[in-house]
Amino acid sequence: MAERGVMKASPDVLHFIDGAARPSLGGETFLTFDPSKGTTHGVVAFGQAEDVDLAVSAAWRAYDGGHWRNLAPRERARRLRRIADLIRERLDSIAERETRDCGKPLRDARADVAAAASLIDYFATVPENVRGTVYAEEVGHFAYSRREPYGVVGAIAPWNFPFLNAVWKTIAALAVGNSVVLKMAEQSPVTSTLYAELCAEAGVPQGVLNVVHGDGPTTGAALACHPGVPKITFTGSTEVGKLILHYCADAVKSCHLELGGKTPNIVFADADLNQALAGSLFTSFFNSGQICTSGSRLLVQEGIAEEFLSALLDRVRGMRVGNPFEETTHLGPLISAEQLERVNGYIEDGIKSGARVLHGGRRPTEPELADGYYLQPTVFDEITSDMKLGQEEIFGPVLSVLKFASDAEALSLANSVTYGLAATVWTRDLQRAMTAAERLEAGIIWTNAPHHMQWNIPYEGHKDSGLGEDLGLESIATFTRLKVNYMNFGGGALDWA
Ligand code: NAI
Ligand code: MG
Repeated sequence: MAERGVMKASPDVLHFIDGAARPSLGGETFLTFDPSKGTTHGVVAFGQAEDVDLAVSAAWRAYDGGHWRNLAPRERARRLRRIADLIRERLDSIAERETRDCGKPLRDARADVAAAASLIDYFATVPENVRGTVYAEEVGHFAYSRREPYGVVGAIAPWNFPFLNAVWKTIAALAVGNSVVLKMAEQSPVTSTLYAELCAEAGVPQGVLNVVHGDGPTTGAALACHPGVPKITFTGSTEVGKLILHYCADAVKSCHLELGGKTPNIVFADADLNQALAGSLFTSFFNSGQICTSGSRLLVQEGIAEEFLSALLDRVRGMRVGNPFEETTHLGPLISAEQLERVNGYIEDGIKSGARVLHGGRRPTEPELADGYYLQPTVFDEITSDMKLGQEEIFGPVLSVLKFASDAEALSLANSVTYGLAATVWTRDLQRAMTAAERLEAGIIWTNAPHHMQWNIPYEGHKDSGLGEDLGLESIATFTRLKVNYMNFGGGALDWA
């Protein structure tokens, strides 16, 4: 963001702190871009340490005042349901602003906003499901545990699903009674302030949800290092996740991390190949591959590999890269000029290392796409697992194809990366499917069902892909801490000295 500069100007996109939209205390701003045109479309407040501090103080005031935390759980649930209703009422306008700000196809943005509303529907069931345990076995004694909110949770979110991520990073923490300070990604700030405004309209009290915009090193680090924030939840790159963990170490903060991935998408010869083909296109190229669980490595079994690849390439040729506001577009632009450059770097490295481009690898040639951050869907084969293409998270529409002979070879290739977020398996053989699920080193296994998510089902990244459980009732433990109370009601006295 440095090259885009920090300046003093009147912002269009404000922070949301202590119940109101506000500029930065010192007036700093930055620009947000329309990735389909490569031009700026808004001036955004740039939060410094003092703005983060203001948000954290407001969050604690709200928490200590008990205006949210002490509400009856059914009342907190009612207000959460109201947020979801307001989102559904404004779905089209949120989706349009989202597409303008991050370039994703409008039809996908609509689906994301609807998903955010359904995510809140689920979390509205959570306040009434927070439970402790009773330990009443010892005569004359009674003990119980309960889950208490941390107080203030700091949330740091990425740009790949801006509105959905703003909701996802905050809603579990809010549902169990915390106040939250959210630092949204600098590439896609617009809809997170809208979300905070809708929450206020739905009755989330002043100071309970705060949004501070800005970059990672200034604003994100100020939040993660803030001594008044005992819990951090972060989604983003593994590189920054490790930094956050270091920041948290100094203050012994609890840290929840959802990091990168290099998901294998394994097609066995016995799979339903039509189903596998449709699912493989989706998992590789949906959201232009800018998803932590994107199936960026296609592992296909020899014997069907030629036939499967040729069918896949036919379908890839039919995918439309274009203006995200057109309903027929499959792939909009990437999020930023930096991301386009990064992904292009992987393509160049792949070519240099001897991988073969089967399709794409370039920017589209249509003149009307020349200024946006567009890239053709790209398929590589003749890659080896040790190449960057086979190891690193690319976060773009770039698929690497590897072939395998046996089940053992497929699983060994699948596990040969540092990541362990998700894995997809295509097979109709129950024994093969279950054995693969047992041996794959990943927190989510998708058998014939890539990208399938249900909000009531928890997940957690393995290896370098994260720390801690998210979604489902398991997220209650993630966003609360345990307290136990040992009680002696029987009158027994200690006989120690
Ligand atoms: P990033 O990890 O730098 O950014 C994610 C969030 O962390 C943003 O809000 C950013 O401002 C913040 N951040 C960055 N540095 C920080 C710091 N020192 N302290 C506190 N917060 C900080 O990701 P970036 O640069 O946008 O994308 C680079 C690569 O990261 C992508 O190509 C992709 O491979 C990966 N990534 C993975 C995501 C996932 O969902 N797992 C999401 C976004 C990116
Ligand atoms: Mg970064």
